[in-house]
Amino acid sequence: MTQSHANEMDFVLLPSKEVFVKPGKLFIEGRVRDDVRDDLDNEDIVEMKELLEKHFSSGDFTFELLEDILAHDRTADLRLGSHLEGVKEILKSLKVVEYLGPNAEHTTHSSTSARIEVQVYELYDDPRTFEEDSDIPQAEITPMPHARFDGVWDELVFAADIKGDLIWMMTNILRFSLRFSDNVGSDVNPLILLHGPPGTGKTSLCQGLAQKIAIRLRSQYDNTMLIQINTSTLLSKYYSESAKQVDEIFTKIARMCQEEPHTFTCVLIDEVESIASSREFSTDGGESHDSLRATNALLTGLDKTKNYPNLIFLCTSNMFDTLDDAFLDRCGLKREVTAPSLGSQYEILRRRLQKLIDRRVIRAEVELPPYKDAKTCALLDLASVGARLLNIAEQINSSPHISGRSLTQLPERAVLQYLREEECDLNMALKFIERLVRPAQTSQEGKPEGNKVEGKGTEIEIRGKKRSFKLVFEEDLDIELLENCIEAARKKPSLES
Ligand SMILES: Nc1ncnc2c1ncn2[C@@H]1O[C@H](COP(=O)(O)OP(=O)(O)OP(=O)(O)O)[C@@H](O)[C@H]1O
Ligand SMILES: [Mg+2]
Repeated sequence: MTQSHANEMDFVLLPSKEVFVKPGKLFIEGRVRDDVRDDLDNEDIVEMKELLEKHFSSGDFTFELLEDILAHDRTADLRLGSHLEGVKEILKSLKVVEYLGPNAEHTTHSSTSARIEVQVYELYDDPRTFEEDSDIPQAEITPMPHARFDGVWDELVFAADIKGDLIWMMTNILRFSLRFSDNVGSDVNPLILLHGPPGTGKTSLCQGLAQKIAIRLRSQYDNTMLIQINTSTLLSKYYSESAKQVDEIFTKIARMCQEEPHTFTCVLIDEVESIASSREFSTDGGESHDSLRATNALLTGLDKTKNYPNLIFLCTSNMFDTLDDAFLDRCGLKREVTAPSLGSQYEILRRRLQKLIDRRVIRAEVELPPYKDAKTCALLDLASVGARLLNIAEQINSSPHISGRSLTQLPERAVLQYLREEECDLNMALKFIERLVRPAQTSQEGKPEGNKVEGKGTEIEIRGKKRSFKLVFEEDLDIELLENCIEAARKKPSLES
């Protein structure tokens, strides 16, 4: 439903007077500066959007996906020219976020072959969400796009193009929903189900998608709301009356969509298995009777709200096998989210480390290379940052199962656990992470691990199968040299025991 028909800027007049429709579409998001947000009205926002779309569409500009056009003065000047000052007065960033169309595997796209759609948006940053005092006390309601979810989408890394598929699905649902009236509804429920093991990013994907929807729909709807229903809380809080609660929530959502047609609503039902468990396995026990009724209420609720063009459901579950068939039949898209692959694990680590570098927790003089470059680094120099990070990712990858959740926490946890000095440089941070992922690897047993202790000299730890030792030296020693000496001595047969 993003512009259902092309506008005049979508066409290029060729010399032969043939009209050529640009095959791709490039999405650019302009975030309004927080300090001018309250001074702007809707007209200013629309004006800025139209100015940027017209400017970019009428020239020959090349854009790199994920770049922020305003980040560097020189490139910003090249792209925006005389508009730069005016744009900077209003916008904090201008990011090239998505490309839909042919050659989607390319990261560079030009305004001569892609239509440009700019969305200008303000971020809500009120930390409060409406709960107890709202119409739907069983849920958390957040006005979107919200600062809480800023960057969530960009931080998620997956091997398969799940983000691209979700964007397409969302674009299609939104586009077609407007073409159906209340009487002639779509056959498919606007419902996306993400399922997979814990900590693989399902909830974050839904929140990131809701943020995307809010930004994308900025010019079509006055507001977007995210209603988050945590079903396990719902069940524990309203014990034995979950069916009634589910029914009530859906009735209120339906009323909201009807009474406020200019508000778009994303409903996130986390851990949906609590209210969508298979009725086949329900027994006559009181509690399961309640869960059976809750599943019925959910199905009825989904049918009741199916044809509202301003509503979409996003559900997550890590118990796919227990879900009711009738619920699964109502999912417009079912997508499995799996544990991250080696490449994704590397990228997650790299981005988290980069975040710590950006926040000056870690000092770094070198760049952290992306995964494909790290593989080359590993061939050329095993001590390089890329090779070491790749080695860490490989160690994690060979351990039984590590979720995206534990991976994202790893760099920070390592620094918190092992840092004993005022400052932490990249070399130290990598050492700490290596140390944290090492205990699971038996091949590392006996390898000495050194650490400088502020004001106390140097510590060396040697982990064995049964026992670990710690040598404490009063002076500050060269840790690497000491580790190498101990390692060499350990490998001598007479010292092995
Ligand atoms: N593939 C990934 N890329 C980057 N970060 C990830 C990834 N998977 C998980 N994370 C991070 O892990 C944390 C937990 O993710 P999230 O809560 O979305 O997982 P989940 O699949 O909903 O887990 P659960 O099934 O336990 O509810 C988040 O901070 C998220 O950013
Ligand atoms: Mg979750």
